[in-house]
Amino acid sequence: MADSLRVVVIGAGRMGSTHLDAIDASRSVDAVAVVDPVATVRDQLHARGLATHASIEDALDVGGFDAALVAAPSDLHLGLIRTLMAARIPTLCEKPCGLASTETSGAIDLAAVAGVVLQIGYWRRFVPALRQLRDRIGSGRLGELALVQAWQWDGEPPSAAFRRRSGGIVRDMGVHEFDQIRWLSGQDLTVAGLVESSVISEPPVENDPESAAIVGTLSGGGVALISLGRRYAPGDSCWVEVIGTRDTVRSEFMSGAEADRIFHTALVDQIDAFAGAIHGSPSDGATAADAVAALRAAEQARTLPSQPGS
Ligand SMILES: NC(=O)c1ccc[n+]([C@@H]2O[C@H](COP(=O)([O-])OP(=O)(O)OC[C@H]3O[C@@H](n4cnc5c(N)ncnc54)[C@H](O)[C@@H]3O)[C@@H](O)[C@H]2O)c1
Repeated sequence: MADSLRVVVIGAGRMGSTHLDAIDASRSVDAVAVVDPVATVRDQLHARGLATHASIEDALDVGGFDAALVAAPSDLHLGLIRTLMAARIPTLCEKPCGLASTETSGAIDLAAVAGVVLQIGYWRRFVPALRQLRDRIGSGRLGELALVQAWQWDGEPPSAAFRRRSGGIVRDMGVHEFDQIRWLSGQDLTVAGLVESSVISEPPVENDPESAAIVGTLSGGGVALISLGRRYAPGDSCWVEVIGTRDTVRSEFMSGAEADRIFHTALVDQIDAFAGAIHGSPSDGATAADAVAALRAAEQARTLPSQPGS
């Protein structure tokens, strides 16, 4: 399409490939280039007709794109954003946007100086069932929120190499739930407790337990409960339950055979919203300030004493 947004995808592993499929289905965005240091990854994508580069600097030298999608490992997010913002490239960065909230705050400052869009990939905001739930909560039909419970259990853990540099389950997975709870409820979340399982994974991965449970308080006075797990035999599953003083809603918004389609559709809507934001439309996507709040919640959890499970 002549006036499609031309995007370079930075990092073409598990999530970068998933984004490339979503961009293929988008009517407002085209993937034109990919950056990945791994030659075999570049060769496969070159065969699909994409320009490929071993580094972001090489990509910027050649140019030919309007925006970037960062799907490289989380510990590289801030460095990549620094380079992109220096070149004034609008960026959609995967969550968590760095491994510490101070890194995300740094990204906000860089985007403000560059004066370009920086959106964070909290895709739950584009799941229709969750958008309906948010509207219901906002309308007051559930009453005051007494409890918001959010569960995220993955079918299989990612590679041990990924887990070692992911920041651990609370940062890597928990940030989705922290953002989702804040966004759904319209309230701030303060984490009050964390329990991590001592079940040994195979292969063992230090500082990344197999499962965790987190409890927190909402600024409206309700309670938040979060359950995370790396291994769930039925496959990737997420669900949320909101108990209000007037009504209760439970939404199994991602599970079973539909899980991949829901994820894919949300990613398409997310990248379209990013393109819209670049063209000046109001965006429903997460801001970097939202990502700071999610990482702060993770940091509150991590500073609490961890109790091994039985
Ligand atoms: N939103 C979600 O639901 C979701 C799900 C999975 C992962 N993620 C996020 O996506 C990011 C990537 O995760 P993943 O699972 O795809 O990891 P991955 O290890 O599968 O892929 C990362 C890719 O980045 C490449 N890479 C390494 N250094 C690079 C650099 N300097 N420049 C460009 N590319 C580089 C690697 O070669 C690899 O191909 C992480 O930040 C992770 O938190 C988000």
